[in-house]
Amino acid sequence: MRVRRAICERGESSWGACVPDWPFSAAALSSVVERGEARWILVANYYATQLSGKRLRRCYELAPSRVRQYLDAEMRHVVARVQAAGSVLELGCGYGRALGELVAPGRRVMGIDTSLDSLLLARGLRVPAGRLEVAVMEATALALPDRAFDAVVCIQNGICAFRCDPQALVREALRVTRPGGKVLFSSYSEPFWPHRLRWFELQAAEGLVGEIDYSAMRPGEIVCSDGFRSGTFSADAFVELCRQLEVEPTVAQVDDSSVFCEVTRAGVA
Ligand SMILES: C[S@@+](CC[C@H](N)C(=O)[O-])C[C@H]1O[C@@H](n2cnc3c(N)ncnc32)[C@H](O)[C@@H]1O
Repeated sequence: MRVRRAICERGESSWGACVPDWPFSAAALSSVVERGEARWILVANYYATQLSGKRLRRCYELAPSRVRQYLDAEMRHVVARVQAAGSVLELGCGYGRALGELVAPGRRVMGIDTSLDSLLLARGLRVPAGRLEVAVMEATALALPDRAFDAVVCIQNGICAFRCDPQALVREALRVTRPGGKVLFSSYSEPFWPHRLRWFELQAAEGLVGEIDYSAMRPGEIVCSDGFRSGTFSADAFVELCRQLEVEPTVAQVDDSSVFCEVTRAGVA
């Protein structure tokens, strides 16, 4: 994939834009619309078109107390697991909720996301000069060199939320991780389901996502009437994915709310 890249230094963080040459040219897009498949394209870009910037931030603001506990526990786990890393990449960083926690003395942090609106908020994070870079990028096609980071993290169920091929996602994360470095993915754990559903009901009530479509929901999957879907990647699914990729995972349950999959990149540094 060809990528146009522009980086500008703006005081406290640098700001990058990697604009892929999408396969959807104007002509291709209109032919898709004519075939009545436009809805699929909109849904595939849901986070960029519907749930970005301040709307995404609002979802986290209205989290009830058990969801806040889950978010805190997830964050504490990530921060602890990357403690020794001198460079960290977050895939799907949104408006920078975790980036601020990941910035640490002597560490370089980068966040990438497909939503420009969200990254514009992340750019406003107050961090010491030179510590943080954000860029528009697609997580399965990173415009980054091999072995560039000590740790790559993808939390908040990104493995489902991105609606991409999980194998391609983890493979790409491993590609940009140095040998001996780690990749960390998280999804929801089963006992947390009622709290997760309640959280999405609150988001639906505020019109941040469409109405919950209870008739279409399956265990572990939120479905909304506007096409939004958010599944779950179980511990078993992580183990199976890693078997297919021929890598060794450590899978851990945290706080009865999230499931983490951690892989250490093999090879000689
Ligand atoms: C559930 S939000 C999580 C945001 C952030 N990680 C957090 O914990 O606050 C998922 C994020 O992934 C981004 N995203 C969706 N598809 C993506 C993709 N293919 N590549 C990179 N980011 C993507 C969305 O724009 C959104 O910001």
